[in-house]
Amino acid sequence: MMKRIALFTSGGDAPGMNAHIRAIERVGGKRGLEVVGIIGGYSGMISGHFEVLDRIRTANIIDRGGTVLKTSRCEEFFNPDGRVKAVEQLRAHGIDGVIACGGDGTFHGAHLLWTEHQIPVVGTPGTIDNDLAGTDYTIGYDTAINTAAQAIDKIRDTADSHGRLFFIEVMGRHAGFIAMDVGIACGAEYVAVPETITDIDELYQRIIAQGVDKRTVVIVGEGDELGGALGISKKIEERYGMSSKVSVLGHIQRGGSPTVRDRVLASRLGAAAVDALIAGKTDVMIGEMASAITYVPLEDTWKNRKPVPTYLAELASILV
Ligand code: F6P
Repeated sequence: MMKRIALFTSGGDAPGMNAHIRAIERVGGKRGLEVVGIIGGYSGMISGHFEVLDRIRTANIIDRGGTVLKTSRCEEFFNPDGRVKAVEQLRAHGIDGVIACGGDGTFHGAHLLWTEHQIPVVGTPGTIDNDLAGTDYTIGYDTAINTAAQAIDKIRDTADSHGRLFFIEVMGRHAGFIAMDVGIACGAEYVAVPETITDIDELYQRIIAQGVDKRTVVIVGEGDELGGALGISKKIEERYGMSSKVSVLGHIQRGGSPTVRDRVLASRLGAAAVDALIAGKTDVMIGEMASAITYVPLEDTWKNRKPVPTYLAELASILV
């Protein structure tokens, strides 16, 4: 029987993680559980940095970006000794089940907690990249695309005034979801994503068709095989002698107050994660597809690559 559950956030922070923490504390309390926050992701699990959460600790955080539980990318957890230390801490603190909020790196670790040490664990999708199979959206994605779109709109203004060519790089590691959505939303002339080969000649033709002295905004996913926005800009310069401006939006996309969509998703998945642990589920990610809660084996979330829908790529190119 579950009496004491722990929760941590891990990997890149994502807006909505605080709404998620709040929901887990609230729902856990209503179900008669004690909810413990692990501070600093897997690093905090190894060092035993645990803290009991209550209404006061989770008050006034629903609208805040980042994560009050802090986060880390922890190498130590990915060797077996690190995991043994982490499990000793979980057992010493009487933890009956764990909720791991993060991306695929977080889920790899969570999967090992279950398979190697039989610690019941469920994952929840917290990453701006939206790259996890088994959920339509991840916590943080909606905020990130809105933040990126606002920044791109501003760059468009100056690009338009000067008639300049801009390459704007957005985050997403190996996934083009952010690039594709903001490319469409901001009327980009071209969108380059890691999932498809970027044809530099075709891109040049697009730029020419637009008019060399006209505004041209090209959105580039950071994982694009030509080396992101800087790589593409250099290639265009080398091959065609055409100069351009490069803007890398970077970590601005990870911060800020979460959108309503992200707050609601984070709250719903938090409640569902608590109930999943109580129901005896483990080694699964709690997601949402077509408005229904899904339970997806953790391994499937990274083994089955989630594709950027082809209709989006078609839309992006037909709208130019
Ligand atoms: O996974 C989220 C993400 O923001 C990716 O889009 C990006 O590639 C990566 O994290 C950056 O990580 P870090 O902040 O550790 O450099």
